[in-house]
Amino acid sequence: MSIEKKVIELRNKIEDHNYRYYVLDDPIISDAEYDALFRELQTLEKAHPEYISDDSPTKRVGAKPLKTFPEIQHVVPMLSLDNAFSDEDVNDFSERIIDRLKIHAAIEFTAEPKLDGVAVSLVYEKGKLKTAATRGDGVTGEDITNNVRTIRMIPLHLRGKGHPNLLEVRGEVYIPKEGFAALNDYAAKHHEKIFANPRNAAAGSLRQLDPAVTAKRPLAFFGHGLGLVEGGDLPDTQYDIMMQLHTWGLRVSPDLKKVTGIEACLHYYKKMAEKREHLPYEIDGVVYKVNSIALQKKLGFISRAPRWAIAHKFPAEEVVTTLNAVEFQVGRTGALTPVARLEPVFVAGVTISNATLHNMDEIVRKDIRIGDRVVVRRAGDVIPQVVRALTQHRPVNAKKIHLPKTCPVCHSAIEHIEEMAVTRCTGGLFCAAQRKEAIRHFASRRAMDIVGLGDKIIEKLVDTGRVKTVADLYHLTLNDLAELERMAEKSAQNLLDELEKSKSTTFQRFLYALGIREVGEATARQLALHFGDLKPLMSATEEALQEIQDVGPVVAKHIVTFFQEKHNCDVIYALIKAGVRWDPIVIDHKKLFLSGKTFVLTGTLNTLTRDEAKEKLQEVGAKVSGSVSPKTDYVVAGSDAGSKLKKAESLGVKILDEAALIKMLEG
Ligand code: IVH
Repeated sequence: MSIEKKVIELRNKIEDHNYRYYVLDDPIISDAEYDALFRELQTLEKAHPEYISDDSPTKRVGAKPLKTFPEIQHVVPMLSLDNAFSDEDVNDFSERIIDRLKIHAAIEFTAEPKLDGVAVSLVYEKGKLKTAATRGDGVTGEDITNNVRTIRMIPLHLRGKGHPNLLEVRGEVYIPKEGFAALNDYAAKHHEKIFANPRNAAAGSLRQLDPAVTAKRPLAFFGHGLGLVEGGDLPDTQYDIMMQLHTWGLRVSPDLKKVTGIEACLHYYKKMAEKREHLPYEIDGVVYKVNSIALQKKLGFISRAPRWAIAHKFPAEEVVTTLNAVEFQVGRTGALTPVARLEPVFVAGVTISNATLHNMDEIVRKDIRIGDRVVVRRAGDVIPQVVRALTQHRPVNAKKIHLPKTCPVCHSAIEHIEEMAVTRCTGGLFCAAQRKEAIRHFASRRAMDIVGLGDKIIEKLVDTGRVKTVADLYHLTLNDLAELERMAEKSAQNLLDELEKSKSTTFQRFLYALGIREVGEATARQLALHFGDLKPLMSATEEALQEIQDVGPVVAKHIVTFFQEKHNCDVIYALIKAGVRWDPIVIDHKKLFLSGKTFVLTGTLNTLTRDEAKEKLQEVGAKVSGSVSPKTDYVVAGSDAGSKLKKAESLGVKILDEAALIKMLEG
């Protein structure tokens, strides 16, 4: 046999075994035999580099580390799912479908587990894996192809015949329970960050710039649907499509079932709830999808979710354990959060040893003490929380929890704001904890995006006093960084390059990066679009600010107070002096012809979706609010508008139908 033939034969053999092992869950050789085949192929490829191919099973890992992830546009948006939390919600879902389709026979659904992972899109061109991307905001995701290629459960090429020219498979990358436990054990031993849940661990693993790191993470995959398909035919039901994907070598849930009628859905839910703890991965509910693709198309979408599918969530799980200690953590705004240190306990698929106690008022109201047996609740990816203490089992030596007299980090005074139930360190940026959080926020991906400025480095920069404000970041030298323990010259230079790169930013990112209280990304964007540049914003009054979408009196006050503080302005000027810059946004005042007007949208619109209508209104300066008040200028009422329309009528607010709205938008 020629060497080339032998190489191809080995590759095919290895892929067949991969398929049997990962997809069919039915291996026919031992791990040792598999490893031997793999090594044989590696040896042959090394001796005959002319036969190396980038889709050989030996070439899954090997791409060089990236600096950032390129963007990928999803031609078919990646949507989310609506949630149902009760049988009644599921019944409503089915009623809505029946109403819309005017069908009276029971509807066929697929039912499958809802995995707690990260949604990914895999694009196969002529059967070969071309790109893999995260969901991102649904329209633009990140290109994580090199990382996804390291997941052996994901085929580099499809098996069999008849694949469309272009096939986009969507599914979930997740970390099984066992792998998650091992990962966190390792992290704990090496003083690395512990992942809060398998979902965070999967997301963190997929977002590694170096695929060699991803390759070491125990990632797994299930397909659950399709995106863009071109040049080829597929079956006409959800179930048959999934079976087809399985034949082509993609893993689908072994628990995927066809069920008819809502009763059968609810029965499936009960069965899966019983099976949940025995599954090797975490699920947080089940998903029902209308089986017929023709009916799916008829039903379509509403805002960000399909009308033909729903996630039926499991209720939160509760367990009892002992509260060993309480520590107070200081956040970016100085808020002190009591964190419960618990006797480790297994709940909803993972072992936890920390939970939040929210704030001091709750501790007092619930009379929770150190040493108590406490009920801990965990739901999906939400941070576990202490729900209550079993006071009847209270040990005699249980200790009351006291607020520290001063900040546990900087020892500044502490203030308690009664009406907001928060306790704050008054140290501001003098407090190392607040400074660290402020820097972390400033550097984060959606703010200044300083790649490589991780928690550990921030910690050291602040603790050594080298960085006092975010502006100091831009005066760091190679020497400063090299002096930090464990920082190689190459990574130090990379970080300096990243800092330099981050200087060129956008106004909205800069605003968000400043970390003004309650100014999130969306508000920063609105502020940037409205004011165009820093100067007009810095001199804006509370009244002027409140004209903007999302800005109420509280936020307006935070913004004004922020710019009144001299030290904040000093930092801003220092940043600009260091070279931080952006292009001012040119505001076309003529375009903002609805500025100052407040709209409320209600009922179903026919031509526009509600999100589209909202976006279009905001583009021309209008504010869109969720509730009708005397301040509302217009209510746009679609079909089956309910209480908001009534309220508008009673308040004498002007009411528009969709046609009138469209006309108005045309100016
Ligand atoms: S279908 C258009 N099926 O849940 C509908 N999603 O909460 C696309 N998820 O973004 C999703 N298991 O990442 C579907 N069996 C399953 C799922 C599943 C987990 C994720 C998915 C989606 C999110 C929505």
